Amino acid sequence: MKKKIAYWMIALGVLFSACDETQKQDAGVDRETEKKIEALIKKMTIEEKLGQMNQISAWSNIEEMSGMIKEGQVGSILNEVEPKRINALQKVAVEESRLGIPILIARDVIHGYRTIFPIPLGQGATFNPALAKAGARVAAIEATSHGIRWTFAPMIDVARDPRWGRIAEGYGEDPYLTSVMGVATIEGFQTDSLGNPTALAACPKHFVGYGAAEGGRDYNSTGLSERTLRNIYFPPFEAAVKAGAATIMTSFNDNDGIPSTGNSFILRDVLRREWGFDGIVVSDWASVTEMINHGFAADAAEAAMKAISAGVDMEMVSASFITNGPQLAKEYKVKEHDINNAVRCILRIKFRLGLFDNPYVNEMQPDVLYAPSHLAEAKEAATQSVILLKNDNNTLPVKKDVKTILVTGPMADAPFDQLGTWVFDGDKNHSITPLQALRQMLGSDVQVIHEPALTYSRELNTPGIAKAVAAAQRADVILAFVGEEAILSGEAHCLANLNLQGDQSQLIKALAKTGKPVVTTVMAGRPLCIGEEVEVSSAVLYAFHPGTMGGPALADLIMGVANPSGKTPVTFPKVVGQVPIFYAHHSTGRPFNGTETLIHDIPAEAGQTSLGCTCYYLDAGFHPLFPFGYGLSYTTFEYGAVQLSATQVKKDDTMTIEFDLTNTGSVVGTEVVQLYVQDIVGSVTRPVKELKRFERITLQPGEKQRVKFTLPIEELAFWNIDMKKVVEPGDFKLWVAKDSQSGEAVNFKVVE
Ligand code: GLC
Repeated sequence: MKKKIAYWMIALGVLFSACDETQKQDAGVDRETEKKIEALIKKMTIEEKLGQMNQISAWSNIEEMSGMIKEGQVGSILNEVEPKRINALQKVAVEESRLGIPILIARDVIHGYRTIFPIPLGQGATFNPALAKAGARVAAIEATSHGIRWTFAPMIDVARDPRWGRIAEGYGEDPYLTSVMGVATIEGFQTDSLGNPTALAACPKHFVGYGAAEGGRDYNSTGLSERTLRNIYFPPFEAAVKAGAATIMTSFNDNDGIPSTGNSFILRDVLRREWGFDGIVVSDWASVTEMINHGFAADAAEAAMKAISAGVDMEMVSASFITNGPQLAKEYKVKEHDINNAVRCILRIKFRLGLFDNPYVNEMQPDVLYAPSHLAEAKEAATQSVILLKNDNNTLPVKKDVKTILVTGPMADAPFDQLGTWVFDGDKNHSITPLQALRQMLGSDVQVIHEPALTYSRELNTPGIAKAVAAAQRADVILAFVGEEAILSGEAHCLANLNLQGDQSQLIKALAKTGKPVVTTVMAGRPLCIGEEVEVSSAVLYAFHPGTMGGPALADLIMGVANPSGKTPVTFPKVVGQVPIFYAHHSTGRPFNGTETLIHDIPAEAGQTSLGCTCYYLDAGFHPLFPFGYGLSYTTFEYGAVQLSATQVKKDDTMTIEFDLTNTGSVVGTEVVQLYVQDIVGSVTRPVKELKRFERITLQPGEKQRVKFTLPIEELAFWNIDMKKVVEPGDFKLWVAKDSQSGEAVNFKVVE
């Protein structure tokens, strides 16, 4: 008898464990929907189940696609954006396939659909989650009006290596900033109900650690320990899951020898069991069969087996599931309950999106593309994304009595390139460039000379520079727009050299030699090593790739209609050799002690230890060109003394941090105040500081505001020597500052 009870206990345990992977959050799941899902799964053949797990990229022959859909071989289509074609394909799925399961239509809507917003790295520079949410909402309204219901965004890979072209697509180097901006973007895409017809299912990507590709070379391996994953790379994804992200995409990289697409630790143990994720895990483009290239699978069948067993629900374009799945199931090389769980997640998101009730897009709805309100949102985002890096002698804003302006450089009138990377559906003809915006704004009051000098960022053109220098003689101020063409950042577009391309640096230096004030504006997909150009420029603005409305935003900033407020979302290296360089580094046994003897100051026959033994580069020093969180304003701000609600706290306490912020300048301005904390001694070494809060504060000239942060001490928890997430008692430092290198530390203690 006892044996029988034991068997039943095991059987029940197996049953519940098999379900808990995708139904852990039963409480949050709609029971009616789950009943419908179970009823459907019971009817489905193994081939139809594997068909739901198959995503194809649209191609021109709609008959061929319709044939696959009718046979139940397609669960999702990406890259189909024409409403009529989408409805025709959907009609086949709903009315002609055996079970009538609707298709999920997907597209990379990364920073706008038609109205293009600043690239995500530029949005990171705003430190404004509300702005990111608003931009995502606009993108969702435009994309869903064409029948798209799933986007492969936000990209929330923490990135600390600007050689990596995809640093453009994320929110920079900091896990907290990335988490806050990523959650806001998900909320903007999804609204509070996926059933909203303008809701776009989000897909935080790429899970996980992709931004740490060795050498900053895309698709390269990573070697991140579990603790580093848990303390740095997981947090944005955990926040995304807690925010209700509908789907997650796996990353191309192998970490510690295991490709993410075949990694059950991250996809099942962490994503499903620890975080309770119940949405769709989709592979990245062909990343399932790329496990063959990785040397992790011998062939497509083994790749499919590893991906399904690890927890991938839907396979993007490599078709190994649908091809090999039936035989794998027949040979019990994949478990049917893994396949059922995958299909459960896919059907769950389709039900939540309302596709079973409303599968079709309304082809007669009013055109919402480029709506004035959308363009206004895009302009505001672009305005707030621009960082003022230098402004000697208040060169900016340009004085009202200016008579002649020279506009030059390859990015001054580059409607395609100012949109940036991952712009499949944006139209350059809707871009307004800085040249166009300045001419529109200034009219006949100011003469605007346009002498591009270079027609694209990589161009070598000495005669063109000479023409610009000649034109400069007639100008009161020179506005030089330089940077990167859109193609130079984004996927697979890594750089080993971060200097300005082509003759752009020569252009800036030649213009500076004229003695006229040079305002250099950089539009790029990454931080560039622009130290020399900053040196010779009177003022420098960094605009990343600002999108459709980049021109009007820059014109407002340059002419003083708006005041820059952006802050660097990533550290700017002096030279590429400093990379990786980021503020939240560990102290090391030999922290920088403030003194550095640079290479040109080293005496001949210097003694072996005469330079001291610390951690700076002899030829570049220790500090970056610009630190994380840095940005100037046309006004100035004063930070008052920081007051803590207590200098001794317990783990369950919440601390309040207060200080006065005053606008001590003469124009209205916005400051991004930042709160950093250091856990001085831990059971493992800890970063020298970590961003824990930030807020944009707008003040009129002379205005003072009492600023208050609340910080639950539990947010100081980290994964410790025992791989437990705990707050360890001890001494801490706290800064309230304008950037990651400023401010005076105050101390507090966490006690048991
Ligand atoms: C790409 C990218 C991914 C994108 C997907 C679909 O290779 O890695 O970010 O969403 O394929 O286009």
